Amino acid sequence: MHASITPAILYLGTPVVLNSTVNENGSYNLAPISSASWLGWRCLLGFEAVSKTPQNMIRTGECVINLPSADQVDAINRLSLLTGSNPVPVGKTQRSYRHKQDKFGAAGLTPIPSETVAAPRAMECPIHLEAKVAKVHRVMADEYDYSVHDRSAECTLEGIIRIEVRITRVHAHPSIMMDGHPNRIDPNRWRPLIMSFQRYYGLGDEITASRLASIPESMYRSPDIDRAHTASPTAQTRLN
Ligand SMILES: Cc1cc2nc3c(=O)[nH]c(=O)nc-3n(C[C@H](O)[C@H](O)[C@H](O)COP(=O)(O)O)c2cc1C
Repeated sequence: MHASITPAILYLGTPVVLNSTVNENGSYNLAPISSASWLGWRCLLGFEAVSKTPQNMIRTGECVINLPSADQVDAINRLSLLTGSNPVPVGKTQRSYRHKQDKFGAAGLTPIPSETVAAPRAMECPIHLEAKVAKVHRVMADEYDYSVHDRSAECTLEGIIRIEVRITRVHAHPSIMMDGHPNRIDPNRWRPLIMSFQRYYGLGDEITASRLASIPESMYRSPDIDRAHTASPTAQTRLN
């Protein structure tokens, strides 16, 4: 029989991503998150709103989502408990976070230029997704009084937000590409880093033939792909 339980967290296993953004002074921030899911060429990223990353994204309208492989877990550990926010927000001091401006240096990763956004890519990560902010969604609006913060011109958001981004460029390392398919990543070669209940795992081997995979990947192609390859206007950041 199952038991009815009350776990403090429901981090049931998702890939870790490294978000790079540009700070007010032009330096770069880099932060691990695991609340990331994809629909077409859109990604929904979940943040504590006081973090530096969502504030940079709302101010600049863009970011790069870098995907580390499982063998880059040390870089994630080096970035853990660091924030680009100075001073460190109260909730984070209680969890022993420290301010660090040079997060690329702390991680031992190399910033390289992007093609469609000012935020840099993390060279050593096998996948880079350049992205523009499409919309900011409030989460837990039934719990927080967001109206107080909406009246402020500053990015003094509280609570939890989901930022929807539109991918504008995808970069993949040749080592994870499918043979004979220049636009397909090979899931047998791509080894994402998975965070489950704050601990790290890799993927095992493929376990069975997939009925879902009988659908050609090309059938999922969305208009965002064509849009990504034409000049795009500056993203308008809107709060919901
Ligand atoms: C593996 C991992 C996953 C994380 N996932 C999230 C997440 O999904 N959302 C979030 O707000 N913070 C997440 N964090 C915590 C952030 O890294 C933390 O809030 C950090 O302060 C963000 O950096 P920044 O303040 O410079 O943006 C995660 C941390 C680690 C190490």
